[in-house]
Amino acid sequence: MPAAQQFDLVVIGGGPGGYTAAIRAAQLGKSVACIERRPDKALGGTCLNIGCIPSKALLDSSELYETILHKAKRHGITTGEVNIDVGGMMKRKAKVVTELTDGVAYLFKKYKVTPHYGTGQMTGAGKVTVTAADGTATELTAGHVLLATGSDTIELPFLKFDGKHVVSSTEALAFEKTPDHLIIVGGGYIGLELGSVWKRLGAKVTVLEFLPRILSVIDAGVAADVHKILARQGFEFHLDTKVTGAKPAADGQSVTVTATKDGKELTFTGDKVLVAVGRRPQTAGLGLDATGVEYDKKSGKVKVDAHFHTNVPNVSAIGDIIDGPMLAHKASEEGLVFAEQLAGMKPHINYDKIPSVIYIWPEVASVGLTEEQLKTQGVAYKVGKVPFLASGRAKAMDETEGYVKVLTDAATDRLVGVHILGPRASELIGECVAVMEYNGSAEDIARCTHAHPTLSETVGDAARMAYAGVSVNF
Ligand code: FAD
Ligand code: NAI
Repeated sequence: MPAAQQFDLVVIGGGPGGYTAAIRAAQLGKSVACIERRPDKALGGTCLNIGCIPSKALLDSSELYETILHKAKRHGITTGEVNIDVGGMMKRKAKVVTELTDGVAYLFKKYKVTPHYGTGQMTGAGKVTVTAADGTATELTAGHVLLATGSDTIELPFLKFDGKHVVSSTEALAFEKTPDHLIIVGGGYIGLELGSVWKRLGAKVTVLEFLPRILSVIDAGVAADVHKILARQGFEFHLDTKVTGAKPAADGQSVTVTATKDGKELTFTGDKVLVAVGRRPQTAGLGLDATGVEYDKKSGKVKVDAHFHTNVPNVSAIGDIIDGPMLAHKASEEGLVFAEQLAGMKPHINYDKIPSVIYIWPEVASVGLTEEQLKTQGVAYKVGKVPFLASGRAKAMDETEGYVKVLTDAATDRLVGVHILGPRASELIGECVAVMEYNGSAEDIARCTHAHPTLSETVGDAARMAYAGVSVNF
């Protein structure tokens, strides 16, 4: 067997956590290898291949279709017959994905990160074996090993994936045609985003959610408004329901749910059932038990300290396989911070100020605490809430649904949470993250000059409402 190749850092997993750490460590002078097991050798992980990017490509395409069909007329634009070519849409999605995954491979070349394609497994202190698809094994030795193997879909025992009628997000990102009836188990991020894609393209969409509300992690008031808006768009929601049975139906699947409150049973039949009930760290076969790396047996999450160190020296972990929100920007931020710490720098990551976005329309973006969290913590707080109806730009765009809600500490005016439901909320939240990162106040935001006419003026207005109790525009 050839001698083991030696690196300062071996990263297992080429997703946003792993590739960011690999590139940054290489930029800082480390010799780095990154192992990725996808059979197509595409880098970028879940995010670029089967997550953030393909879902946003489809959301953008379906949004455009929706705009042409239902909104263009209000702008005085008339069109002829408008058709949807799902195959063409998927081709565009694939092109977006390939350009980005190729981009990561280009960056690896540019910064001299050595990619290894195959499954990585820790086999001892500083030792990693890569087993390629054809069974060839390559030994690597590493000064430091970084585990960044991400997460995988959770399967329900009574509703197993068959890849055809009962599917995960991966297949729902690649349907060949619009389903007639898409049943979605789970009213979270994936359920609502992919539900929106297929709803806009003409599917009947039914969401079955176990809890009494959708989007259980966001501000309850915002979630209730999202529920109303999506119901108006045609989503059918059944909350407080537990899937209790499932059986194949003619060219589809039927799902029986029991209402948790009164035990009433309902049965739904659809041609596709998307199960989107959360994700779980993927660590099987990684060598955690053999090398003694501690992980939570229930959640599967690898245990790390504030510097991403596991209990085993020179083995660290980041991204979806450790605690915290399963978000790409959280994983990549951890990758960056890990690499800089490895090089002796002292960066930090502020877990209280990681934004989250749900890319439905109107979009939902949040950072910091929700009203419920503030109440539970007994913090006296002020609310500044201004609707986009008061925005000249939103009116010009004909997109006035939603609002900006700014939450501040009543005693100090410090920003403690911002929740935006509205057009391009995903872009508006950035200003709030920056101000919160500097421990800024609502007055700080309100006193910044916001260009006119922009949607960002509503952020300024809501901040003024929080600190001064009034907004000039509302
Ligand atoms: P991953 O991206 O999962 O990458 C891990 C990589 O490791 C994978 O490529 C895997 O093949 C590889 N791997 C695993 N085990 C091994 C092994 N033993 N050897 C070698 N390689 C291995 N987040 C957002 O912030 N915004 C979004 O809009 C968003 N949309 C999403 C949409 C969908 C449909 C899904 C499913 C997820 C979405 N996410 C989104 C979540 C986001 O994709 C993840 O949080 C992010 O990809 C996690 O990054 P990671 O580097 O930890 O892991
Ligand atoms: P999720 O955690 O967002 O939502 C899952 C939902 O399923 C919850 O509301 C939960 O109560 C419900 N549920 C759980 N078990 C159930 C059952 N047996 N029956 C009915 N409902 C049940 O998980 P999701 O949507 O699978 O997404 C996984 C993760 O991927 C997200 O948590 C997020 O971290 C990430 N993601 C992020 C996106 C973004 O940033 N825009 C987009 C898509 C995914």
